[in-house]
Amino acid sequence: MFPTTRMRRLRSSKFRPLVRETTLDVKDLICPVFVDETIDEPLEISSMPGYYRVPLNMAVDEAECIRDLGIPALILFGIPAEKDETGTHAYGDDDVIQKAVRAIKKDVSDMVVITDLCLCEYTSHGHCGVIGDNQEILNDPTLDLLGKTAVSHARAGADIVAPSGMMDGMVGAIRSALDESNFSETPIMSYAAKYSSAFYGPFREAADSGFAFGDRSTYQMDPGNSDEAIREVELDVAEGADIIMVKPAMPYLDIIYRVKETFLMPTAAYQVSGEYSMIKAAAKMGWLDEQKVVYESLLSIKRAGADMIITYFAKDMAKMLGE
Ligand code: PBG
Repeated sequence: MFPTTRMRRLRSSKFRPLVRETTLDVKDLICPVFVDETIDEPLEISSMPGYYRVPLNMAVDEAECIRDLGIPALILFGIPAEKDETGTHAYGDDDVIQKAVRAIKKDVSDMVVITDLCLCEYTSHGHCGVIGDNQEILNDPTLDLLGKTAVSHARAGADIVAPSGMMDGMVGAIRSALDESNFSETPIMSYAAKYSSAFYGPFREAADSGFAFGDRSTYQMDPGNSDEAIREVELDVAEGADIIMVKPAMPYLDIIYRVKETFLMPTAAYQVSGEYSMIKAAAKMGWLDEQKVVYESLLSIKRAGADMIITYFAKDMAKMLGE
């Protein structure tokens, strides 16, 4: 008790580094990369200032740049030239993701290449699954396509596949499909607790994955629920997930904390597009110090329990950490 205990004693700059409980490292970061089959030059995403889609022939340059900053992993999203009802171009050996993965693994082989595994960028209606007669998103027929897509990613050389569609049983289906094709060593990073969030708004422009009708609330989680996240993660762990993810990150720090405490699993958090755009917008207005807020936001996500963070600030943060 005061005056014996003085919390301020250790707050001097001399002691702060010694008693700091959480630190950020470049090795905690995963950088999202949007590869667009339809462009020849990088294309800035207007709702995500400073973030670009890259053409296929620049995917390798982008991966090299990420590697040179010391970031150990990237996660790929594809924008295909053609979309159809069932997302056929998600799983062809010569489709956008498969080509990008092959090129990156050939030239930047030490980079961990994660592939986002979902149909929404490849379906004409923009939903994460196959559509039934009454515009409902059909769960079980989607699983076969996810399995096929996972195998095509692994065949192209993907190091980790990351299913993000929130279909029931997706991790189990993908695990069996991979195992049957001799990819039993390919880990699955499951978007296990993915909320139906308005914070994904800018991503829909980034990945051209806006939906033609309805929303994603019949498959993504209700933002009011926390116990349900535990049940979602429990199922994915039982089905064989190697890494589990909570998404978005900052509005769901309590979920990250609970999930890490409960399962002790390698845990990823996704600082999503809306979290990026908010900080960018406020910084542009001069209302926030961008660098400090980026650092603090990522540190808080790690402190909550994340082992790794997918963030559009990965390159900026890596540069800052290197300074
Ligand atoms: C695809 C997917 C989405 C995001 C990652 N994978 C969009 C969605 O579910 O609507 C969002 C990422 C972001 O907002 O940064 N299923």
